[in-house]
Amino acid sequence: MDRIISFLREKAPCHIHGFKPDFMERCISRRMKDKNIQEIEAYYNYLLENREELEQLVQGLIVPVSRFFRNPVVFETIFSYILPFLLEKKKNNRERYFRFWSAGCSTGEEPYSLAILLKELFKKETEGFLINIFATDIDRKALQFAQEGIFGHESIKNTRYEWVEHYFKRQDDFFAIHSEIKEAVYFSYHDLRNEKNIVPPESIFGYFDLVFCRNVLIYYDIDTQMQILKNLLKSMAPGGYLVLGESESIPARHQIKAKRILRYSNVYRKLVN
Ligand SMILES: C[S@@+](CC[C@H](N)C(=O)[O-])C[C@H]1O[C@@H](n2cnc3c(N)ncnc32)[C@H](O)[C@@H]1O
Repeated sequence: MDRIISFLREKAPCHIHGFKPDFMERCISRRMKDKNIQEIEAYYNYLLENREELEQLVQGLIVPVSRFFRNPVVFETIFSYILPFLLEKKKNNRERYFRFWSAGCSTGEEPYSLAILLKELFKKETEGFLINIFATDIDRKALQFAQEGIFGHESIKNTRYEWVEHYFKRQDDFFAIHSEIKEAVYFSYHDLRNEKNIVPPESIFGYFDLVFCRNVLIYYDIDTQMQILKNLLKSMAPGGYLVLGESESIPARHQIKAKRILRYSNVYRKLVN
């Protein structure tokens, strides 16, 4: 196993940088099972001889699974509490913009869910506001899928019936998202491990009101997680919100300028000072 991981470190260093060894081991075992290879030595030799297998293995480390309104309680909190609060704050401060980022957006369900909430909640109230939703990932195939905006039943099963009716068009067994939602999201490639550019290039300067980074940190070792978290916090406006996945959190022993706002989900608020 160690030889395979060393081989990956040599041949695909950028792709696997910071991944947890036990996570990589699980991916290797999965590939061995798919290829019906029982011996680790035999798989190592197979990997040396097959360029395609290396690509498959690296691709397997990226897990492009998502769905609309994944973990509904989080979206409920954003809908009923965070967005109305942000709107009031913007009005009071006479700010005319909202900036959002879905970091590790996979196939697009997460930023599209947010775009639906914004349409629903604000309707006429956001007239005159500039709303930007940036969505980034390192999986180019997932980004392409996201931009096409056509989803299966599984993806939409947490979505309210009236929103499915209103924001999707049925195409045989699939659901195509309406152009008003599709056009609200800017998708692009961005690696969260990039130390030089910590925000999506299209966003230019960050200053986000809310950042999603859900089900991404779990693949990385603690040092990489902390580096990503620090950069995400830097990219946010003071008082901005950071939403992590269900099984992700900021370890208490790490001094990070953010406070968890809910007991039942991993939503943090960046401290103002
Ligand atoms: C399981 S999906 C999560 C999708 C969505 N956030 C959700 O929770 O439904 C994880 C995504 O993180 C992306 N990812 C992993 N490492 C990344 C990195 N270093 N920078 C950007 N995206 C990354 C993967 O490509 C994958 O699409």
